Amino acid sequence: MAHLTSLLCILCLVGSVIGQDMPYEEYMAQIQACPKECHCPRNFPRAVYCDNKGLKTIPQIPTHTWYLYLQNNLIEVLSADALRNATQLRWLTLNRNKITSEGVEDGVLNAMSHLAHLAIALPASLEHLRLSRNRISKIPAGVFIGLDKLSLLDLQGNKLMDDAVTEVSLKGLTNLVQINLAKNQLTSMPLGLPPTTTQLFLDGNNIEKIPAGYFKGLPKVAFLRLNHNKLESSGVPNDVFNVSSILDLQLSHNQLTEVPVISSGLEHLLLDHNKIKSVSGSNICPVSIDTVDDSINESVPRLRYLRLDGNEINHQFRGMSSSASVS
Ligand SMILES: *[C@@H]1O[C@H](CO)[C@@H](O)[C@H](O)[C@H]1NC(C)=O
Ligand SMILES: *[C@@H]1O[C@H](CO)[C@@H](O)[C@H](O)[C@H]1NC(C)=O
Ligand SMILES: *[C@@H]1O[C@H](CO)[C@@H](O)[C@H](O)[C@H]1NC(C)=O
Repeated sequence: MAHLTSLLCILCLVGSVIGQDMPYEEYMAQIQACPKECHCPRNFPRAVYCDNKGLKTIPQIPTHTWYLYLQNNLIEVLSADALRNATQLRWLTLNRNKITSEGVEDGVLNAMSHLAHLAIALPASLEHLRLSRNRISKIPAGVFIGLDKLSLLDLQGNKLMDDAVTEVSLKGLTNLVQINLAKNQLTSMPLGLPPTTTQLFLDGNNIEKIPAGYFKGLPKVAFLRLNHNKLESSGVPNDVFNVSSILDLQLSHNQLTEVPVISSGLEHLLLDHNKIKSVSGSNICPVSIDTVDDSINESVPRLRYLRLDGNEINHQFRGMSSSASVS
């Protein structure tokens, strides 16, 4: 019986290794090179778990690693050396560490070499890069050049200011889909985002206004989160959100006094906790139902979820539940 169990285990192991498409020699090399501080599951050999270990530096990462988890440590420097062999890396999770853009306060020149290292260290195969909750205040010019597979960049909860996010710093991200810049120190909309950006998260900054036509440069943007900023209606140009690609628009906890113009394709709209005084049907339903022609499918209003609670809306809407479903 024991024999049968171990046989089954070996079969399981072989099955999942084959599932990850890994030759036996590579599998063995990978398991043997597992850093002693980390956990390398035998049934998932491309993953290396080094999270929550109090690490101050990144250990030597084995060659065949695709998924590297380093969150919740005390890492200050993204060292090129530790990642030198890990050229196949696809996901790198470094949330909640102490990485700064300046390195370890060695003056500007050293800082630059550290930043250069950062560029060298990131393999071209990288698809997800999570750097949330560190102390990053600058994105060095060209640091992402060559990362043309990167689709997700999470920089939430750092110390980025307006001059940190520019066309020069984001150059090379030709396939970026999601960028998370929430909880930084931005006062204006980031510039130079790649036109492939679909999900843009900017909650919890101090953004006051949006330049007219801002989203013309982002023809695929569909999910836009700007909750907990300082937007006033005077800082929101009339047609700026009237963009047909936007499906989900979140503007909770700002200082808007008017409902912004939206496109008929919008599905979710959060406007709660602003200073809006009145809402009219045409605000939230940009195309009159009477004039909708079923054959012109594009013009059918799609808004399905709307939040307006926490505003200063007058009697017209009294009695309407705070979170209403529009149909
Ligand atoms: C990295 O690659 C070198 C050269 O192939 C090898 O000697 C070394 O053992 C590798 N290190 C790890 C951690 O895989
Ligand atoms: C919104 O954009 C559409 C399509 O470009 C346009 O037809 C419509 O008039 C705009 N709505 C407002 C209120 O400006
Ligand atoms: C209208 O668009 C929806 C969603 O894009 C689609 O599922 C539906 O078939 C379309 N209806 C007509 C009449 O074209």
